[in-house]
Amino acid sequence: MKIVSAQLRNFRNHTDTELEFKAATNVLLGENGQGKTNVLEALSYLCLTKSFYATNDSTVIQQGKEFFDVRGTFLLDHGTESQIRVVYDASLNRRRYFVGKQEVETFSSVIGKYPIVILSPENSSITFGMPADRRKFVDMVISQSSKVYVDDMLEYRRTLRQRNKILIDAARKKMLTAADETSLAPWTESLVVRGSKIILKRAHFLQEFAPYVSNAYASIVDDNEVPAIDYEPQIACSPKDTVAEIEERYRRTLEEKRNDEIRTGSTLVGPHRDEIAFSLNGLHLRTFSSQGQHKTFLIGLKIAEFFYLKERCNETPVFLLDDVFSELDERRSTRLVGFIENLAQTFITTTSENVFHNALLWGGEKQKIFIRYGAAVSEKEMTTA
Ligand SMILES: Nc1ncnc2c1ncn2[C@@H]1O[C@H](COP(=O)(O)OP(=O)(O)OP(=O)(O)O)[C@@H](O)[C@H]1O
Ligand SMILES: [Mg+2]
Repeated sequence: MKIVSAQLRNFRNHTDTELEFKAATNVLLGENGQGKTNVLEALSYLCLTKSFYATNDSTVIQQGKEFFDVRGTFLLDHGTESQIRVVYDASLNRRRYFVGKQEVETFSSVIGKYPIVILSPENSSITFGMPADRRKFVDMVISQSSKVYVDDMLEYRRTLRQRNKILIDAARKKMLTAADETSLAPWTESLVVRGSKIILKRAHFLQEFAPYVSNAYASIVDDNEVPAIDYEPQIACSPKDTVAEIEERYRRTLEEKRNDEIRTGSTLVGPHRDEIAFSLNGLHLRTFSSQGQHKTFLIGLKIAEFFYLKERCNETPVFLLDDVFSELDERRSTRLVGFIENLAQTFITTTSENVFHNALLWGGEKQKIFIRYGAAVSEKEMTTA
């Protein structure tokens, strides 16, 4: 897939910005706070129906405006063109998504159609951060390729909220009444059913994903470093298990934890507490690795994500690289640019072209787009006060 062009209206600091993209590399250049990342965010709305980092549309709409409107023209791998549009109406707090003239009512039906891989500074939490950050990464990759998983996750989260409400109430009263017991039972059952499917899907996914990570790692690092990913679910699970086996273990563990759940007022068991451990040559990344190894692991994960999604979605994902090169040394950034620009259409934000160390040859299907004060400007306008 390629993004041919995009138009941003009232989107963050972009009042009315029109952009045409090249098929290979598009470098968004500009000083801090000018609106480069905002362009990537707009592209993520088009591809995913939502932002890759804002959790609330109302922070994205340009301050004081009533709506934002983002449009894009996509060229899919098999040659068809798609017009995508995302409109958010502030007064109704409603986001609408259109493919051509057709409104898409359920966002989950867009899953996997316009895959993207994003690498941004916030992603460092995937290797440095808490288990929740790693689960989020894994969920995001699976979600882009499986609608069933998205539905299970949504239902699991809803169940968790409802179940916790009852448990919080029980914790306050220091007991679970018979009435509470009756209202808790269906939520517990839903938790077990959805949760077990999620656990098994994660186990299958991580088994499939591991070789992608090893291959990606080998393509960016010459050193003899072997990466590994281990799924550490709270409810024991092997990819060979049946969902019924996991359900049974899940039910049993919940029963064992019943008193603790009433005491703490929260659901203590389930995929919302899983860990996904990363290691290099058998040593835990979080405990033993250098900054550079973290960064390289992360890039390896993202390249693996690219190949995984490409195969699963039958569509070549687009790469969004937000401020990635400023942290890499010359050898690694040259290697990364060379590697990625041959894979897919790429959008790169940076404050200075020096980060490429002349590794990018301009012209052909590569271009610089200059961003200043929330608009695309000419190179000359960049230098005038
Ligand atoms: N809802 C909004 N309405 C208007 N302006 C906004 C809104 N949200 C963010 N901005 C503005 O957008 C700008 C930040 O844009 P962006 O994050 O794209 O910058 P950037 O070019 O990526 O900068 P950096 O190089 O520092 O990462 C800031 O000036 C901020 O005030
Ligand atoms: Mg930025």
